[in-house]
Amino acid sequence: MKIRGDLAVRPVRNGRGLVALRGFGRGATVCRIRGCIVSADAVWGYWRSGNIRRGENCFRFDADRYLDPEGEIGAYANHACDPNTGIVKDARGLKLVAIRRVSAGEEITHDYSTLLGADDLWTMKCNCGAPACRRVVRNVSRLPEAVLRRYRRLGIIPAFILATRNG
Ligand SMILES: C[S@@+](CC[C@H](N)C(=O)[O-])C[C@H]1O[C@@H](n2cnc3c(N)ncnc32)[C@H](O)[C@@H]1O
Ligand SMILES: [Zn+2]
Repeated sequence: MKIRGDLAVRPVRNGRGLVALRGFGRGATVCRIRGCIVSADAVWGYWRSGNIRRGENCFRFDADRYLDPEGEIGAYANHACDPNTGIVKDARGLKLVAIRRVSAGEEITHDYSTLLGADDLWTMKCNCGAPACRRVVRNVSRLPEAVLRRYRRLGIIPAFILATRNG
């Protein structure tokens, strides 16, 4: 299986996923999400041409651009409703940061809703298995209030996503 730094791509509950090869403390950067910055039109192009997987894998990067992780490990980051990492955007781009201690062998997950703006229509049936699984992953405006508050406190909802909630 593919190994990049401290992570490996391995079979997990939902297909292939990212597995930690070492422990990470809370607040540690687990990995940077590498790839190409593409326009929203380019992502629509993936959908229109039937490349659904590639369209679904793109990370929103700002109001109208996406990060396409094709060929990089970001293409294997699965969603969980009780994730162990969150997306943080800094001057260098997007990264996954541990929001609790992560042990070697654990799957690295994040909550896709934190990168789905109120204007994003995409939804996904969830099979994360968490007791608090939301069953369907929807955009940030549909997050339960307590979850939203917690994610905001952890700093894992980028400002450009929060801005979509105000119209
Ligand atoms: C970025 S890819 C992750 C890699 C993917 N698991 C694979 O095997 O190629 C995202 C896709 O994985 C699947 N996926 C990720 N998290 C999931 C979850 N919690 N429940 C169900 N499917 C999930 C969905 O098909 C989603 O579109
Ligand atoms: Zn879930």
